[in-house]
Amino acid sequence: MSLWRSRAYERPMALRGGTVFKDKAKLSFDFVPETLLHRDAQLQRLQSLFRPLLDAGASSTAFLHGPVGTGKTHLSRRFATDLGRAAPEKGKAAEYVLVNCRQRMGDDSVLLAILKKFDERFPDRGFSIPEKLQTLRGQLERHKVHLIVILDEADALLKKSGPQLVYTFTRWGEEGGRSTVSLLLISQKADALDKLDAAARSTFRRGNEVDFPRYTRKELWDIARYRADLAFHPATVPDEVIDLVADLAAEDGDARRAIEILLYAGLAADDENAGEVGAEHVRGAKGEVHPTHVEDRLKGLDVTRKLVLLAVARKARKKTYVTTGEAEEAYAIACEEFGEKKRGHTQFWKYLKELDALGLIEAKLSGEGVVGKTTMISLPEVPAKPLAQLIETSLRPRSAAK
Ligand SMILES: Nc1ncnc2c1ncn2[C@@H]1O[C@H](COP(=O)(O)OP(=O)(O)OP(=O)(O)O)[C@@H](O)[C@H]1O
Ligand SMILES: [Mg+2]
Repeated sequence: MSLWRSRAYERPMALRGGTVFKDKAKLSFDFVPETLLHRDAQLQRLQSLFRPLLDAGASSTAFLHGPVGTGKTHLSRRFATDLGRAAPEKGKAAEYVLVNCRQRMGDDSVLLAILKKFDERFPDRGFSIPEKLQTLRGQLERHKVHLIVILDEADALLKKSGPQLVYTFTRWGEEGGRSTVSLLLISQKADALDKLDAAARSTFRRGNEVDFPRYTRKELWDIARYRADLAFHPATVPDEVIDLVADLAAEDGDARRAIEILLYAGLAADDENAGEVGAEHVRGAKGEVHPTHVEDRLKGLDVTRKLVLLAVARKARKKTYVTTGEAEEAYAIACEEFGEKKRGHTQFWKYLKELDALGLIEAKLSGEGVVGKTTMISLPEVPAKPLAQLIETSLRPRSAAK
């Protein structure tokens, strides 16, 4: 970026408060862009799958799958929001609720999240699953609204609770009553639905699948440019910088990574009062960004679960597989370190199983070579060291964090 462009066409740094950002929130993970570039085919498929809903009020289903950061969650939000807006023109009313099944453990908790959409004060405890379903029916009939349930990271729910809830939603109309529900399942795994029984799976025939391939470098370039233009002051992020961001994100075709790199690079530029983002800021940012959005997942864990995960991460720094005994030992030390009450063995075991269901750890019974049955734990996604650091930071009070 030449000097005259950034200085002559831009307001002076001082007037902008010294920051390269126009609107940092446009890079936050919950900002849903107006359009998702290079996803027209997927959007059109969804629209055609849901045409019966607008035309005749009929339920639909879809299964969205593809690797990390390929726009599944945000495209489904965009689609459902737009559908909700278009419905009144056809004399219909449709609303959606998106539940992340990794942050919500099991059928009961997923249902609770759906109910809270209609009644924020619906009590956390005291209602069985059938009672909750009954309440939901009542609410939908009262509001005369078609509900689109989006189960994001649905594989976590299927692993934890089995196919029952998915089955219930796909058969909603057959249970009587006048309310209607459509279902959108999302997973990184193309085989996520194998866990469904034949009856539920038949609803998710091949025809309902929407595939999200990894983004190419060229597509990531366009996405990074688009998001940078929304978030940064004009002429503070030159095309050469976008080139580099696209190169880095193209390693796994992940748009989230491109956006996170942009954010961290911008922060680094501001730290130096540089006035524009340079290649060095991007290179530095690369190291800060984790390929999977672990931070999001950690947010859903309470202190005890974080300590259990921390114990596994610390042990896993030295070896690939950690035994339960070793993990529990490290857990006791971590409890002491952070001044938390240590839970008993049975509880510890329960937490391990939960973390397994959430996909944060992988626990399996030992194979050959080890006497007796031992559970071997490994970290499927994130390297042990950054994971341990992230948890430690999140457990320490802000001031001591860095
Ligand atoms: N085509 C696009 N145009 C603009 N922004 C995009 C596009 N695709 C993805 N993004 C952005 O990239 C980030 C990741 O997208 P999203 O969360 O939808 O991915 P995902 O497929 O659900 O990933 P995961 O499987 O990890 O949950 C979001 O911030 C999203 O807004
Ligand atoms: Mg997602």
